[in-house]
Amino acid sequence: MIAIATEQLSKTYVSGFRGKRRVQALHDLTLSVESGEIFSLLGPNGAGKTTAIKILLSLTRQTEGSATLLGHDVSSPRARAKVGFLPENHRYPGYLTGQQVLRSFGALSGISGVHLRSRAAMLLELVGMKEWGRVKVKRYSKGMMQRLGLAQAMVNDPDVLFLDEPTDGVDPVGRAEIRDVLRDLKTRGKTIFLNSHLLSEVELVSDRVAILDKGRLLKVGTVDELTATGERYHVGLADGLTQAFRTEASAKVMAFVEERNGLVVDVASIPELNAVIDLLRRHGIQIASVTKERSTLEESFLSLIKREVAP
Ligand SMILES: Nc1ncnc2c1ncn2[C@@H]1O[C@H](COP(=O)(O)OP(=O)(O)O)[C@@H](O)[C@H]1O
Ligand SMILES: [Mg+2]
Repeated sequence: MIAIATEQLSKTYVSGFRGKRRVQALHDLTLSVESGEIFSLLGPNGAGKTTAIKILLSLTRQTEGSATLLGHDVSSPRARAKVGFLPENHRYPGYLTGQQVLRSFGALSGISGVHLRSRAAMLLELVGMKEWGRVKVKRYSKGMMQRLGLAQAMVNDPDVLFLDEPTDGVDPVGRAEIRDVLRDLKTRGKTIFLNSHLLSEVELVSDRVAILDKGRLLKVGTVDELTATGERYHVGLADGLTQAFRTEASAKVMAFVEERNGLVVDVASIPELNAVIDLLRRHGIQIASVTKERSTLEESFLSLIKREVAP
């Protein structure tokens, strides 16, 4: 089941005197998100991430292309019936308690009476804020504010959640707590669409990541797909290398570096990797493991963006 789909979505903002200032925030964005996925849109500030969410929620309209949410065109109110949203840099009045914030948003979604009370209590528990419900939000940390924001986004029991920079400004402990909440929501079958400029956050929680830069989609895939380098292996050895192996390997111009209880080899193909392994075995060297090295998503993200910048 596809929860979210966009088809060649473009958006140009027109502003300034006689519409002289034009910014193309999105260029032909085509992507689809499966139901039950945690899908992240990753990109630097100004990449167009918030614009994409705003179009999906019909808070702004695309210049070209189309998008559907739970099978309905985003212009239809039916598309938003089962959707929750945590906006970027949201704020709640400091004099309200967490409970009051949730009850007022719940009331806006048409929930009332005992249902409203039990729903607010259940959501506070879900985000690990049970003891803080009666405390005014002006006393909350940034992490607690974001967790309350997640609870607010869940108030109408949505199937799809849009979270715009949910961990921005949150300390590492708070981030880990938010990740736990997101994983918990996933086990409840929610689809999560997350915007972030923070690579490390996205890497730890997403099923798939789309990298966006200057309004263009550079790449989409699982974290594994985006981080595989494909040509570097770590070969773990039970004991060390022998001098005889070193001599023969350098004579055969094999590229390897000795490190971490073994060696790291750069190869262009699998047969080349096996040639190194054959040579090790011929020298009676015991192999304990062979692991494909991964670059971090950050390296892959930066290299993609650099490639985009280069002429
Ligand atoms: N309402 C607007 N009017 C004019 N330009 C805008 C507006 N909203 C966003 N932009 C511009 O569109 C681009 C993408 O912005 P945005 O979608 O907020 O990016 P991100 O969320 O990835 O930081 C930026 O260059 C931004 O300045
Ligand atoms: Mg944004």
